[in-house]
Amino acid sequence: MSIDTDHRSSMSASEFRSAIGNFASGVTIVMTSDGDTDFGTTASAVCSLSADPPMLLVCLNRGSDTGGAVNRIGVLSVNILGEDQGTLASRFSAKGKNRFEGVELVRNGSGAPTLTDALASLSCRVVDRVEAGTHTVFHCAVESASVRDGSPLTYFRGRFGRFALPSTEELAGRIKSELSAYLGDVPVRVADLARHFDAQPAAVAEVIDALAGTGFLQPGPERDGTYYVTGPAVSAGTPADRAVSFPTHHPQRSHADV
Ligand SMILES: Cc1cc2nc3c(=O)[nH]c(=O)nc-3n(C[C@H](O)[C@H](O)[C@H](O)COP(=O)(O)O)c2cc1C
Repeated sequence: MSIDTDHRSSMSASEFRSAIGNFASGVTIVMTSDGDTDFGTTASAVCSLSADPPMLLVCLNRGSDTGGAVNRIGVLSVNILGEDQGTLASRFSAKGKNRFEGVELVRNGSGAPTLTDALASLSCRVVDRVEAGTHTVFHCAVESASVRDGSPLTYFRGRFGRFALPSTEELAGRIKSELSAYLGDVPVRVADLARHFDAQPAAVAEVIDALAGTGFLQPGPERDGTYYVTGPAVSAGTPADRAVSFPTHHPQRSHADV
């Protein structure tokens, strides 16, 4: 089968936008500088391409001033915004203002400036580009990155929002329901549970502490942070069946399973 590069869709741009707007994304500000002039635009059409070597795709409209500067200079930074940076995202998408006024930047030699308080900043060099529809797809080699703690700004159906992690109560409910089957005979460890539930070890440790406080779990004789279930079992099965199913033989789940 050959690829039809001249294909014209019967779908309108607004129909496409209302469908693709359901794809929740993070939000970045792509920056570069040309001489004394800084350029920056809000961009969500950014995605991870390869981990080895580390590469990103950045898609910028051919009419974007930032895209034009990236074309000329060949370096850019991708600054992933935190949940409290929606105002900055709006500012860097609106025309006609000095977007950089009062914005703190880090400048490292010949690279593009980065945003001081982004959730993560990746400094990149353009290694290839492809024109596609209205946009230029920049293939970017990532040369360095910095990361800070926090939660991301999100974009969904034309609105900025927050990423909601499962609450500790919800995680506690899931852990308790799973552990109820393992009365007394299976060691319970934070690292195993964190892997099993694809959860942060600190959140699991908090739940374990709370369950130990209620008497549902008790510390094992190992005295190394291992616990055993002392609460009532809710499901049947022989200890041998249960011991092989959890937690040491449980396959690690991927995000796709959640
Ligand atoms: C949430 C959001 C995401 C956006 N993503 C992109 C994008 O990925 N690529 C793009 O070219 N424009 C994107 N835009 C639009 C640009 O930010 C906007 O056109 C900006 O004015 C371009 O600035 P410039 O011409 O100075 O580069 C996005 C806007 C918003 C609000």
